[in-house]
Amino acid sequence: MYGNDFSGEDAPGGLLGEVEAAEAALRAAAERDRGAPGQDVDLAAYFAEVIDADQKIEPRDWMPEAYRRTLIRQIAQHAHSEIIGMQPEGNWISRAPSLKRKAILLAKVQDEAGHGLYLYAAAETLGISRDELVDLLLEGRQKYSSIFNYPTLTWADVGAIGWLVDGAAIVNQVPLCRCSYGPYARAMIRVCKEESFHQRQGYEILHTLAHGTPAQKAMAQDALDRWWYPSLAMFGPPDSDSTHSAQSMAWKIKRFSNDELRQRFVDMCVGQAEVLGLTIPDPDLRWNDERQAYDFTQPDYDELMRVITGDGPCNRQRMEHRRRAHAEGAWVREAAAAYAAKQVSKEKVAA
Ligand SMILES: [Fe+2]
Ligand SMILES: [Fe+2]
Repeated sequence: MYGNDFSGEDAPGGLLGEVEAAEAALRAAAERDRGAPGQDVDLAAYFAEVIDADQKIEPRDWMPEAYRRTLIRQIAQHAHSEIIGMQPEGNWISRAPSLKRKAILLAKVQDEAGHGLYLYAAAETLGISRDELVDLLLEGRQKYSSIFNYPTLTWADVGAIGWLVDGAAIVNQVPLCRCSYGPYARAMIRVCKEESFHQRQGYEILHTLAHGTPAQKAMAQDALDRWWYPSLAMFGPPDSDSTHSAQSMAWKIKRFSNDELRQRFVDMCVGQAEVLGLTIPDPDLRWNDERQAYDFTQPDYDELMRVITGDGPCNRQRMEHRRRAHAEGAWVREAAAAYAAKQVSKEKVAA
């Protein structure tokens, strides 16, 4: 039993269907060779034409400086989130209830490290180095997703993170598979396929608990109660307060508004919670026939702002852990750099 098996999410039009379609569109766009812009072409006009034609902007292409900066900020924040996001679940690797659960969770957390690497590599194509990006995170000058500043108190939280947090990440990221910047779009296709596995593993953990003993079911319900609103907050502030949205939409970096994506997520989760036999902690959640969507209570955006600005339950702990891990990994980076330098000098001697 998986989170998206019964709701047609794998069918064309479902989330994975959308990823497949985006991948096909990406291939088709690559085959429509526009050729390089001629000598006296207006580069800004050429950039606008490429965006209009749903072609991809590639690292070698001219792009407005603000487009480059926006992408660096967004991709870096995404990469940092993948890496910091390993911590709340890493907390449970040694305490997973069975060897099978441990192996699955270990694979999932390793995937998140891989996502961080694809994304740092995508950001590097925009002319910034991974070292600079890591420094910006460690100095607190770039952010990561506020969801990872909440603690994982029980094993059921690992299930709730997979179902809700990875689930919200997929809803956010599927449209990014059609992002106008080629390296980011390609990274997102691979990431989304893996996120789908993450969402399923979390859902399956909760399904097992929700159909176990009364104490296990209560643990699953408690995890849903704590993670529901922080997950809704993952879609960012409401459209009325969202600062970067309009320009990102025009550049086809962003395809749907925060509120549209949040609604999609809620509509997806309601049926999934019913199959789990768990109750979404929102007394005002109900189907609205006119809108053909669920009405729901918005998350506490003041809390979101407090967590974003550093005052969440685990902000300090997460950053301290990352700084310590970075310092303890210094010898690995030095050894890798020394090895690479040795390889280059060997090649020079051979040539
Ligand atoms: Fe991820
Ligand atoms: Fe994930």
